[in-house]
Amino acid sequence: MSLKQEIQRRKTFGIISHPDAGKTTLTEKLLLFGGAIQTAGAVKSNKIKKTTVSDFMEIEKQRGISVATSVMAFEYKDLKINILDTPGHQDFAEDTYRTLTAVDSAIVVIDVAKGVETQTEKLVNVCRMRNTPIIVFINKLDREGKDPIDLLDEVEQKLGLRVRPLSYPVGMGSTFKGVYSMYEKKLVLFRPHGKQAEEDTIEIKDLADPMLEKHIGERAAKTLREEIEMVESVYPEFDVEAYRRGELSPVFFGSAVNNFGVRELLDCFVDIAPTPLPRTTEEREVLPEEDKFSGFVFKIHANIDPRHRARIAFVRICSGTFERNKNYLHVRQGQQMRFSNPTSFMADKKEVIDEAYPGDVVGLHDTGNFKIGDTLTEGEELHFKGIPSFSPEQFRYVENADPMKSKQLAKGLDQLMDEGVAQLFTKETSGRKIIGTVGALQFDVIQYRLQHEYGASCTYEPVNLSKACWVTCADPAAFKEFLSRRSRDMARDKDGNLVFLAESAWALKMAQENHPKVQFHFTSEMNGKRDG
Ligand code: G4P
Repeated sequence: MSLKQEIQRRKTFGIISHPDAGKTTLTEKLLLFGGAIQTAGAVKSNKIKKTTVSDFMEIEKQRGISVATSVMAFEYKDLKINILDTPGHQDFAEDTYRTLTAVDSAIVVIDVAKGVETQTEKLVNVCRMRNTPIIVFINKLDREGKDPIDLLDEVEQKLGLRVRPLSYPVGMGSTFKGVYSMYEKKLVLFRPHGKQAEEDTIEIKDLADPMLEKHIGERAAKTLREEIEMVESVYPEFDVEAYRRGELSPVFFGSAVNNFGVRELLDCFVDIAPTPLPRTTEEREVLPEEDKFSGFVFKIHANIDPRHRARIAFVRICSGTFERNKNYLHVRQGQQMRFSNPTSFMADKKEVIDEAYPGDVVGLHDTGNFKIGDTLTEGEELHFKGIPSFSPEQFRYVENADPMKSKQLAKGLDQLMDEGVAQLFTKETSGRKIIGTVGALQFDVIQYRLQHEYGASCTYEPVNLSKACWVTCADPAAFKEFLSRRSRDMARDKDGNLVFLAESAWALKMAQENHPKVQFHFTSEMNGKRDG
C-alpha cells in the first residue's frame, strides 16, 4: 500500500469527558465493534476511583493501566482507527491537554443528566484552541435527564460549540424508545444490554411515514415529528467542511453501556472524521504525505518497574514512514538515534512494529533523552508547535530532605519535569525551587516517585501563589523596568524562560495594568518567541 493510501485509511482521535460520563464504556464498545477486544470489561477504567491522595497503589495501578491503554487501535471498514486515551482524573488534566495535540479529532461524551461539567469545558477549550473537529455524544439516555433541546443549548453556551444534532432521542429514561437518525434517515429502536436485532433498525426516509406510529406509538411519533421539525428549522444544515474546520459539531444521542447509538456514532465518525492533518512547526507546515518521516513526543511514561529506569516516549507520526532501526535526528539534542523496538499499543497487548504511518503513535524506549515536545526527523530541523505547558495553579517550595542525595533529587526532578508531571520554577532572587502543578495529587506522586525511582526524598513548604505566567515584552526598556520592580516575583522555568509568579488574581491584574507593554502568557507557547 502506498503512503498516501496508508494515510487515507487512518483516523486518530481522542474521547474526552468529565469523569463518569461514560468515556471508558464508549471506548470499550468501539473496540468491540472493531474486534480489537472480544469481551466487555477488557478495557480497564483508567480513573482513580478513590481520590484519597495517599492511595499510591491506586496511582501506580493507574500508571500501569494507562501505558497499556495509551493508544487503542482497531480496524473498522478497512480503516485503521487510533483512539488516544486521555486520563480521566482532573489532576492529570495536563496529560490530557497534551494528548489532544496528537489527535486529529475528538468525541466529547456528555452525561444526559449532568449536562456540561467543568472538566468537559476545560478540555473542549483546549480543542477549540486548535480548531479540533468535535463530535458530541450525549450518553445515558436510558436514564432520566435534561430535555434534549435545553442540553443542546447548554452545549452551545458552555462549550462555545455550534451544534447540529444528527440523531434525536425518542423519549428518555423509562420512556426511552430509541433514536431517529437524521444522518442515515432511520429509526433505531432501543433494546437494553446491546440486544439490538436487525429489525430494530427501520428505514424512514420521510417522517410523515405512518410506520413511525407503528413502531413508537402515536404520541411519541407526534412529539418526534414536532421536535425534528424544530431542530431542522433552528439548527444549520450539517456541513462536513464546517465540522472539519472545527466550526460545527454534530451531536448523537445514545447509551454506551447498552451499546445503543454507538454504531451510528461510529459509522458517522468514519465517514466524516478527518484523516491525519498537516501539522505546523515553527519553520513550516508539515504535510502527512511528505516522503520524509517526522514526529513529535507528546507523552512520556516512566516504566512502572522502578528497577529499570527506562521510560516510554510516545511519538505521534506527522509525515512519511517511520521505520524500525533507521537513524533519525533528535532535533533538540542534535543527535542521531535509532530504535530497535518501537512499540504499538493495542487494547490489551503491545507489539514491536517495523513501520508506522502518519496518524499512528509509536512507543519508543527512552533512557532519559526525550522531553515532551521533542521532534524526530530525517535530518530537517523542525519544531512542532502546539505542545505547550499550561500555567499551573498549585504551588509549593520543594526542599531536599536528605543532603546526601541532592544529586538524585536534582536528576529525579529533572526527569519528572521532562515527563510533564509538573513544572519547576527557580526564583530569580533566592534561587529557591518551586513546583507548580495543575492538580494537588501530583505533589504526592512526585514525592512517591522520587523516593521509589530515584532514592531521593523531598519535603514541601507552602508558598502563597495562585498563578504563574510566562512574560515577554517587545520594548526592552519597559521590560527592564518591569523586571527590576517585580524581581521578587520573577522565576525561570526549566528552559530558562522568565515567569511571573502572582500571589493572587488581583496581583496579576495589577501587574498587567501597571505594565501594559508586558505580555502575560498562560501557556508556555509564545509563537516560538521567547524573550529574556
Ligand atoms: P468514564 O470513563 O467517563 O469515567 O466513565 P465510565 O465509562 O467508567 O462510566 C461511568 C459509569 O457510568 C459506569 O458505572 C458505567 O457503567 C455507567 N454508564 C456508562 N454508560 C452508561 C449508559 O449509557 N447508561 C447508564 N445508565 N450508565 C452508563 P459505574 O457504576 O461507575 O461502574 P460499573 O460498575 O458499572 O462499571
